[in-house]
Amino acid sequence: MVKFDVPLETTVHLPDPSVREGARIKDYEEAYRVYLSDPEGFWERIAGELEWSHPWERVLEWDYPHARWFPGANLNITTNCLDRHVSGVHRSKVALIWRGESGEERVLTYRMLHREVMRFANGLKRLGIKKGDTVCFYMPLVPEHVVAILACARIGAVHTIVYAGFGAGALNLRIRDAGAKVVITADAGFRRGRQIPLKSIVDKAVVGASSVEHIIVLRRTEPSSELYSEMEVDFYELMEGVEDRCEPEEMAADDPLFILYTSGTTGPPKGIVHACAGYMVGVYYTTKYVFDVREHDLLWCTADPGWITGHSYIVYGPLLSGASVLITETTPDYPDPGVWWSIIEEFGVSIFYTAPTAIRMFMKVGEEWPARHDLSSLRIIGSVGEPLNPEAFEWYYRVIGQGRCPVLDTWWQTETGMHMITTIAGEPMKAGFVGRAIPGVVADVVDKDGNSVPPGTGGFLVIRGPWPAMMKEVYRNEERYLKYWKTIPGCYMAGDLAVKDEDGYIMVIGRADDIIIVAGHNLGTAEVESALVAHEAIAEAAVIGVPDPVKGAAVKAFVILVDGYLPSEKLTNELIYHVRMGIGPIAMPKAIEYVESLPKTRSGKIMRRVLRARELGTDPGDLSTLED
Ligand code: WTA
Repeated sequence: MVKFDVPLETTVHLPDPSVREGARIKDYEEAYRVYLSDPEGFWERIAGELEWSHPWERVLEWDYPHARWFPGANLNITTNCLDRHVSGVHRSKVALIWRGESGEERVLTYRMLHREVMRFANGLKRLGIKKGDTVCFYMPLVPEHVVAILACARIGAVHTIVYAGFGAGALNLRIRDAGAKVVITADAGFRRGRQIPLKSIVDKAVVGASSVEHIIVLRRTEPSSELYSEMEVDFYELMEGVEDRCEPEEMAADDPLFILYTSGTTGPPKGIVHACAGYMVGVYYTTKYVFDVREHDLLWCTADPGWITGHSYIVYGPLLSGASVLITETTPDYPDPGVWWSIIEEFGVSIFYTAPTAIRMFMKVGEEWPARHDLSSLRIIGSVGEPLNPEAFEWYYRVIGQGRCPVLDTWWQTETGMHMITTIAGEPMKAGFVGRAIPGVVADVVDKDGNSVPPGTGGFLVIRGPWPAMMKEVYRNEERYLKYWKTIPGCYMAGDLAVKDEDGYIMVIGRADDIIIVAGHNLGTAEVESALVAHEAIAEAAVIGVPDPVKGAAVKAFVILVDGYLPSEKLTNELIYHVRMGIGPIAMPKAIEYVESLPKTRSGKIMRRVLRARELGTDPGDLSTLED
């Protein structure tokens, strides 16, 4: 059983009362009580804000551990993302603003996006794509990416998006597992002034993928790249001469909307399947009520559509809410580390959503970069993907949010589809804690039998009972689906370790598999890393357990220094002392290695098992998600 004591003192920030007064959820406790008193009624009211072509017979059919949300209903998510706005006051509202690396701009209103989606949907039909077929994406972050995603949903084709930073092998695996009929790509993506030849990676990836009938290529380079075989079609030629109208396909509530692969700690990636109705209701609710999107907001989520964060909070959530979305192909530090702040100033971004790894990178390069820009348009700033250590929280709150914007550290997963735990805007924020389950979700920290553990004691983070945007299944792998729900009786086990404080605020310690047991005590890697990063010389840190003859395991740390600091024995001793004072003697690193970079997944998570394997000379397992 996991059990460890975590110091819970932290800084609490009270947002200005006006934040709470202006928020949709004004009183968290009250909203939560309303939810608990009638969970199905709660979700039914949210679903009632959307358009359905046929009403549901029931809100939920719960046959543990399988759920069907809104059975009997018919819908198409694009009706709610597009038609609903086009036929109302949002017809000419900006849906999408795109900024390219060299400053190019494109703007699509809801009306324009609607038309493009319908035309591309007709193009897909022309290729024989129909409801239930799978379409794989390997696209850069351009408006056509969003158009094509919605076009699939329009005709009921299942999209499976592969982040365009993956290699040919990883892409091949996903295309074959999903049985994709079409791959949509571009000839090139642009990154740090370089062209990334996406199409040639697809060429390699389709070898041996017999399901693939066509490759659709968005051609961006000058002169135009050539298309070679019968299989290959130009993105815009496919839309030539098609009709502007394409009626939305009637989807049953439980029909799949997409498959998204997420890497497991062991074994091949899992295809997480989300169903139309529940996913729609969950991401609509969280965008509208958690991000609290307003009429004049401009939302910038810096993720890629290749991750769940992009699916839910670039594409579906914001468009369901009729919001304006910014997307950009720019990287955070090119041509300089001020580029993102200049974009916020220039466009007047009001909701900004990024990842701790980016925040720590910005901390490393210094406050002078954001200081050059006017960030007063920001209203809410968010974080997702890994623990936001107190140090990074404070910096983000003070430097980017200017002590004014609520920081929404949102905990959720590919499998959960939507935000699950955070601190609702207006509620007191505690550095290092994500917060409490949002109204609509019941979260807990438990032992292996599913019993709640007391505050201050670590345990497994679980969700009790179903929620609308929960995954429908793991594609063709019932066993892996059951593992989430059957490991701890009656609970959905997220695979994370966490601890609660007296107020019910949850701190996520790290993955259950990233625990180091030193002399019988469990240490979360994130906790030790957070202590290291709190030292002024440290920009980033990763820790692993290495065998120790006496204690079973000892901590070894890999650290990246802030510019201007140099490795020395003195600094090493200072860091060890710093961790000792911060967490206790048990967490003191046995060794500290200074490195230039850390192995990370393409979404920015540190892959500790790669460090472990390197250190111990063992097999690192599947490396398809490794960035470099
Ligand atoms: C981690 C990303 C701490 C966690 C949406 C989870 C977090 C995994 C947070 C899911 C957070 C995500 N604080 N840890 N705010 N958000 N995680 O599927 O370990 O890419 O299980 O979904 O990221 O990652 P995924």
